[in-house]
Amino acid sequence: MNQPLTERRDAWWVEPLVTVVVLVAFGVYAFWVALINRDFAFGPYLSPFYSPHLDLAWWPFSPAFLILWVPLGFRLTCYYYRRSYYRAFFWDPPACAVGEMRRSYRGERSFPFVLNNLHRYFWYLSLPVLAFLWYDAIKAFFWEDGFHVGLGALILVVNVVLLSYYTFSCHAWRHLAGGCLDCMSGRPVRYGLWRWTSRINARHGYWAWVSMVSVALADAYIRLCATGAIADLRLF
Ligand code: FES
Repeated sequence: MNQPLTERRDAWWVEPLVTVVVLVAFGVYAFWVALINRDFAFGPYLSPFYSPHLDLAWWPFSPAFLILWVPLGFRLTCYYYRRSYYRAFFWDPPACAVGEMRRSYRGERSFPFVLNNLHRYFWYLSLPVLAFLWYDAIKAFFWEDGFHVGLGALILVVNVVLLSYYTFSCHAWRHLAGGCLDCMSGRPVRYGLWRWTSRINARHGYWAWVSMVSVALADAYIRLCATGAIADLRLF
């Protein structure tokens, strides 16, 4: 006799459903933005999808593709996103106390999931990308006619702060910071870093979602300004 998928009576399917909708929407938006290769800058503002802007003569496609593989790889191999997309897309399992769809379990030892072991290296690669985003956020205050505070600059600052929280709440970074040590005594810097990382690591899933949404919103704001659909709100 077939076992029921679950005996849970609550709406356990809502979380995987929302995950699918948000991740698919973001993926489609990001691919479209990268593909069209226009309206990604306005004044000193640069869309995070195009940062750093590498305008290489030999590259025949949108310059966004030269850089997007780094944040994409970082998020695809992220422990939190793995949990989310295994549940939402593969039903493996879809929720706690809900049966899996498949009968065999091979873990992450075979292709392509074995590539998730590269997460730590994507973390290293994400650091220079994050540094460029900080540079873009600071540069956003400096217009041709001087220093101004526009809503776009504030959005870029919030975006890079959220991305920094996401990057430095990473489980792999937490291990590098201090998780690999047997004894913390006599290592105050490593201990301090590990304690701070552990604090923000507890909400890593939250930073993963809000930083992803903020990247899309920052791009959308700059895009709307660049196309003339809205005017940048100048506060100073
Ligand atoms: Fe999510 Fe490293 S575990 S970014």
